Amino acid sequence: MGFGLLFGIGTLGFRFLQFLVPNRKKRQAEAVLIGAESRIPLNEAVPMDLGGQKIVVLRTAEGIAAFSRRCTDLGCLVSWSKERELFVCPCHQGTFDKTGLNIAGPPPRPLDRLPIVKRGDQLYVNIQSA
Ligand code: FES
Repeated sequence: MGFGLLFGIGTLGFRFLQFLVPNRKKRQAEAVLIGAESRIPLNEAVPMDLGGQKIVVLRTAEGIAAFSRRCTDLGCLVSWSKERELFVCPCHQGTFDKTGLNIAGPPPRPLDRLPIVKRGDQLYVNIQSA
């Protein structure tokens, strides 16, 4: 009976530790090729679908950046307004500047920014794979 109790406590402890420590296999970053930098015109943002993840890649004089298109309010897809130089959400008119910072409307935080890696003339975006 003592062994059974110890085994039960050990199993519970192991399950508790699994709950506390995130599963690395489920949250690994994956570098996805998005093409040459010249594919993104200056002051334009190109929307892309990377395995179901909706992103947008923006190229400005300051450089190139990738963001999730999911608005941080309720998840609608933002679009780039070239005239206003802002990302605009169609649902509640939330706006984000070209760094992804939330500047107006209900979004509570900036757009999620995705790291870009340059290898040769090719760009890769790091996305979270499930
Ligand atoms: S979902 Fe984007 S502002 Fe509400």
